Amino acid sequence: MTDLKPIDFAPPDIGEAERRAVDDVLRSGWITSGMHARSLSDEIADLTGRPAAVTSSATLGLQALLLAGKWGRGDLAIFPVITFPGMPMQCLNAGMDVAFVDVDGDCLMDPDQAAEAAARHTHRRVLLVPTHMMGAVMDMHTLVRKQIDQVVGMMTVIEDCAHLYPGMDIDGSERRVGDCLWSCASIFSFYPTKCVATCEGGAVTYNPALISGLGSAIWHGMDRTADDRYRAGGTTMYEIVRPGTKANMSDVAAAIARVQLQRRQELRGRRETVATWYSIGLRQCGYRVYQSAQRGTRRHSQHLMVVDVPHSRDRVRERMAADGVATSIHFRPVTEHPFFRGHPGVWKHGPCENGWKYGQHALSLPLHPNMKMDDVERVLHSFDRAVRR
Ligand SMILES: Cc1ncc(COP(=O)(O)O)c(C=O)c1O
Repeated sequence: MTDLKPIDFAPPDIGEAERRAVDDVLRSGWITSGMHARSLSDEIADLTGRPAAVTSSATLGLQALLLAGKWGRGDLAIFPVITFPGMPMQCLNAGMDVAFVDVDGDCLMDPDQAAEAAARHTHRRVLLVPTHMMGAVMDMHTLVRKQIDQVVGMMTVIEDCAHLYPGMDIDGSERRVGDCLWSCASIFSFYPTKCVATCEGGAVTYNPALISGLGSAIWHGMDRTADDRYRAGGTTMYEIVRPGTKANMSDVAAAIARVQLQRRQELRGRRETVATWYSIGLRQCGYRVYQSAQRGTRRHSQHLMVVDVPHSRDRVRERMAADGVATSIHFRPVTEHPFFRGHPGVWKHGPCENGWKYGQHALSLPLHPNMKMDDVERVLHSFDRAVRR
């Protein structure tokens, strides 16, 4: 074990402005969804050009979308085999079947595999949920074009933008993450390790021509929200008008997220600097980094720094932990989790070999806006030593 200060994996950068914002909310007498949650929705809508609903997490954002769209038994969701299991789990909970398709060499949903899987299910409603993995903005146009060219059926696309900033530029054009040009909705996570961090939260931006009833689905299917009911002059009468869940974001969480969103350029700039140090160091030592979207014009949020470990990944993790360096894995193939492996409504489309290889070798190194060059050098030194030992 080392005497050096541990390097945490991804602590949130919470400053004086976030602390002040929380204090103001706590003193205001209104700590659940209210003015801050509404303002955060408006700010995300301004950044993306689409209506936005803020939620208690990305996962419950999807649950609310599934309820609003009446997704359930007989419907199919298609996910990349490398993603976080929370969203596929919501689809199974809704009674849907779930198919997993392989990822390409950069760990993004393979468009050909997705089209092939969907083409087999033209008799049912199909929901495609690609993940912008690690912060690499996917080429949604190519993904959706393949579907249009090869699949004749009822296809809906929801983007998992958990690793991106709402409104970040996509390719140097006017396009913005969350504009839903090639999807009906985009889902963001504000989990504490994410680019915009708070004490649990998320947001959904959506095309209002394709999605209705989302605001109500987030609030138990009610026809009005809590601040409608409890504020002076509000009406206490409400009716349940549709299926719903409880997925609203509190003003405490929204106040933090609002400050983080205002600081997005600064936070993203610092992530980019840290990622550049890493990329140079890792490439000099001959390691492969999963960061493809930076090539060409497509953008990257630098949420994760994932490196390919040639062998003994788990032993490398243990050795780095002994040096005080936290690491993580994003992600194991979802189909390797016992619950998914044994579920009758789950299958893999083909062998998913890229996903399997990635799942064996990928290692996420610490990356957060407060890392200094010395920290990065320490991580790189520890990593290189752990691999060579
Ligand atoms: C790709 C991806 N999707 C969804 C989620 C779920 O986000 P939340 O914790 O906000 O529900 C995560 C969280 O880690 C994620 O990484």
